[in-house]
Amino acid sequence: MEKKIAIFASGNGTNAENIIRYFQAKQGETQVVLVVCNRWRAKVFDRAEQLGVSCIYMNKDAWATGGEVMRLLREREIDFIVLAGFLARVPDVILQAYPQRIVNIHPSLLPKFGGKGMYGDRVHQAVLEAGEQESGITIQYINEHYDEGDIIAQYRCPVLPGDTPDELAQRVHALEYEYYPQVVERLVAEIKI
Ligand code: GAR
Repeated sequence: MEKKIAIFASGNGTNAENIIRYFQAKQGETQVVLVVCNRWRAKVFDRAEQLGVSCIYMNKDAWATGGEVMRLLREREIDFIVLAGFLARVPDVILQAYPQRIVNIHPSLLPKFGGKGMYGDRVHQAVLEAGEQESGITIQYINEHYDEGDIIAQYRCPVLPGDTPDELAQRVHALEYEYYPQVVERLVAEIKI
């Protein structure tokens, strides 16, 4: 039976693109059918549209209440939600409607370097300033608190002497591109619809 994924994204969307491509290449029954974005004309719009996936903007009010986003998810019969660089809070109504069916990726080894305001390059900068010898990614379910949901998987990479935030980001992104689609695929395969 076909399973439909929606991705929530806020910015560049390289993970969104990578996950869409992963499932398209498999030509299986699980596909990304929708991207929902909270930033008007973020780069992720072009990436999704080029791959034939509709990307819909929802404004601040829509995210505050959640009703409009929820209607869209119902209308498109979404089974599973993947956050990929999504920087807003997921409304409670959606959390309740998708228990254990919303996952997030964070570019550090949580619980280190997580929490509100910790995203993207800020995380890598903080890891370098703390003198860490390794970093990595965390894939987790989400709950009502930023970066505190149950951890599903973590993958590690070294922090090398003299690393810039950009260099570390590239190493962490490589982990995201390799593992996030695989983990999503496994989790979606387990859900019953
Ligand atoms: C990714 O590195 C992701 O882990 C991070 O934002 C980046 C988005 O890149 N997410 C967070 O920091 C969430 N707290 P992308 O838009 O190119 O996929």
